[in-house]
Amino acid sequence: MGMLMMNLVLINVTPVNAAAKKESSSPCAAALTHDFYSQSCPKLHNIVRTVVKKAVARDPRMAASLLRLEFHDCFVNGCDGSVLLDNTANFTGEKSAGPNKGSLRGFHVIDEIKEWLERECPQTVSCADILAIAARDSVVEAGGPGWRVVFGRRDSLTANITLADEDLPSALYSGSQLVSNFESKGFNLRQMVALSGGHTIGFARCVPIAPSIYGRVTDDHSMNPAYLTFLEKACPNASATTLIPLDDDTPAKFDSSYYTNLLGGNGALHSDRDIVDSAGTALEHVQHFAKHQDSFFDEFAKAMVVMSNIQPLTGSQGEIRTNCRFVNPPCTASKAATVSPSLGRKLPLVQTSAP
Ligand code: HEM
Ligand SMILES: *[C@@H]1O[C@H](CO)[C@@H](O)[C@H](O)[C@H]1NC(C)=O
Ligand SMILES: *[C@@H]1O[C@H](CO)[C@@H](O)[C@H](O)[C@H]1NC(C)=O
Ligand SMILES: *[C@@H]1O[C@H](CO)[C@@H](O)[C@H](O)[C@H]1NC(C)=O
Repeated sequence: MGMLMMNLVLINVTPVNAAAKKESSSPCAAALTHDFYSQSCPKLHNIVRTVVKKAVARDPRMAASLLRLEFHDCFVNGCDGSVLLDNTANFTGEKSAGPNKGSLRGFHVIDEIKEWLERECPQTVSCADILAIAARDSVVEAGGPGWRVVFGRRDSLTANITLADEDLPSALYSGSQLVSNFESKGFNLRQMVALSGGHTIGFARCVPIAPSIYGRVTDDHSMNPAYLTFLEKACPNASATTLIPLDDDTPAKFDSSYYTNLLGGNGALHSDRDIVDSAGTALEHVQHFAKHQDSFFDEFAKAMVVMSNIQPLTGSQGEIRTNCRFVNPPCTASKAATVSPSLGRKLPLVQTSAP
């Protein structure tokens, strides 16, 4: 069945993303489709929604963490699940890169989804596709917009920590650095401002914040003095363990108050504040999204679809990992293999059918 699906998809020959610069991209790159798993894993949507709902109920921040995982997967060599790989003898994983180390989280939720999927439809759903749908379900769970997720990504056989350090934007970036970073991934200014709205949920450590309030970055013109005092108290140094909400008003709710906060000078990250400070039309977009939440939701949802289409591996590229943390060992490469023997821990409270 898996092969049949794949053949059907391969007929549809469409370039996936104009901005794609993948050296390995074949002339026959297959487009991702909404119904890729409708035959091979019809329960996919229910399973992911169930696990995400449960995880977010347990820990509201998890919605933010799962959204960020998709961003950090797709911006580094495309949406190929590479962000999920643990370190091995052959490579150091992207988890150890500066933008990820000590802050990227939610891996156990992805594991839980994968374990359930491996029981329901073994070796069928890629980890890259799990990230894409979990991000959507997380945003919905936090009160944000939904969008139709496309599927058919395959999982990478390696990870690249150097690329993660190079391609993921830094909290010390200026507005123009953000623009060129997002441009290099195929996004225009408006899409960049919309995607930054992902910071309407979740938290940052003092690590990326302290350097911007203690002098290394001095161009925070828009910053509210009272908010600066708050940050100085919360983050006396980079190793203080306080978590700072990226949206000071409603850190668990996906809404437009991130933009309202930016306009009030209450942006937690220098990079966010500089979207407002930087000259040009970025400010107009911030003002527009602050005022029109529906417009933000619309633009965000569309941009997430574009993001989830960055350089996917398709067709026979890569593989379908059985354990998202590791490339398949040679012995499980065959379809006859049993369920993820390499998981190395007990299956969690898996239900046989989604409610
Ligand atoms: C515009 C450039 C961006 C920069 C410079 C940036 C930087 C950061 C930083 C520094 C953190 C905190 C990490 C820490 O604690 O060390 C963070 C958190 C977060 N980022 Fe971004 N980010 C950007 C864009 C995005 C985008 C496009 C999304 C998703 C659409 C996103 C989603 C998130 C979320 C949800 C969190 C909170 C995660 C959690 O609480 O677990 N970010 N980001
Ligand atoms: C490392 O790469 C070699 C050669 O490709 C391969 O045989 C080996 O299984 C890999 N080791 C791990 C831990 O992935
Ligand atoms: C990782 O990315 C860097 C930076 O683009 C590149 O120079 C290097 O060749 C890549 N390494 C591997 C193993 O692909
Ligand atoms: C950083 O600040 C925290 C919280 O005030 C304090 O406990 C810690 O000793 C400080 N660390 C350094 C290296 O100054």
